[in-house]
Amino acid sequence: MIGVRNGARSCARLAAVGAHVPERVVTNAEMAAAVDTSDEWIATRTGIRERRFAGPEEASSDLGVIAAQRILAAADLAPDELDMIITPTASPDHIFPSTAAIIGERIGARGAAAFDLSAACTGFIYGLAMATGMVETGLARHVLVLGAETLTRVTDQTDRATCVLFGDGAAGALISAAAEDEATGFLGFELGADGSGGPDLILPAGGSRIPALSKPSRAESCINMNGREVFKFATRVMIDSCTRLLEALEMDIAEVDLLVPHQANIRIIDYAVERLGIDPERVFNNVDRYGNTSSASIPLALSEAHDNGLLSPGDLVMMVGFGGGLTWGSTMARFEPA
Ligand code: COA
Repeated sequence: MIGVRNGARSCARLAAVGAHVPERVVTNAEMAAAVDTSDEWIATRTGIRERRFAGPEEASSDLGVIAAQRILAAADLAPDELDMIITPTASPDHIFPSTAAIIGERIGARGAAAFDLSAACTGFIYGLAMATGMVETGLARHVLVLGAETLTRVTDQTDRATCVLFGDGAAGALISAAAEDEATGFLGFELGADGSGGPDLILPAGGSRIPALSKPSRAESCINMNGREVFKFATRVMIDSCTRLLEALEMDIAEVDLLVPHQANIRIIDYAVERLGIDPERVFNNVDRYGNTSSASIPLALSEAHDNGLLSPGDLVMMVGFGGGLTWGSTMARFEPA
């Protein structure tokens, strides 16, 4: 892509959403046959009843390609019109090349800039902020923000404390330029990180600290999590981030048509929803069927809400995420399909 600031001002529009999940459904009963857990424990502690597992030959980009094609079809946009692909992911195909570049090549988005974004489960919100900046400065017209994850590959399937939580999937959104007076687009973002909590949610090996060549242990090669600390952090930042954003926008939560939170645990969501004072009918959840799909989780919920007729043009959508880093973020946007 070539981006030149020409003085024209545009607005970043949430133009299309889409998703793809692998076929294989793994129920809590199936998890209970593999590790010492039960449907009752998983459902009451997390709200998860089943999740999807990628096939042995499927990597994150394979899921991402299908999701990307669906989003472009929904927007009626040719792949070569994309200026940029941002792939937030905690389970990229490789450290490099980026999963975004692999997806771009396979969908025919030749020439589009492409990179992966590391903000774990908050990655989609961070990616939306990057895309909004690119579009609103006139440097790009169409940016695809596409979370693509195969977290089951980096989860120890013998560790009951983590394996029941995560699932695979890909989902995202197209952010396109609209004339400034045409759309209201993204009204604002609240983003942050607290690196002191990094060790509470970490995949230790594979980078420069514990290189793959050093033959890391099984534990170092999988997600390590301090569940209780992450739970406390998640409830706190979900409430704080949404509250700070609403205050900055001088808006009331009652104005939000749909809240789409990161789908990690229904208890985290229910607690925050109660404290935020939003009608639970206006909160979309699908954690029961997919578990935590990290950077794909918010757009997967957004896409399903749209498919279920819960998202109409002009609706005000608030999204909020939290995850490894530790990171958090929220945004408010009008859904304005092309
Ligand atoms: N099945 C049965 N028992 C399990 C279990 C499982 N799948 N996982 C853990 N347990 C056990 C623990 O070993 C512990 O046993 P003990 O008391 O004998 O030591 C007991 O259940 C309670 O563990 P605890 O960690 O206190 O449970 P919890 O109520 O905090 O729930 C989580 C655990 C992981 C569900 C919860 O902490 C959580 O959701 N944290 C946030 C995780 C998250 O969202 N991560 C991603 C963020 S992006």
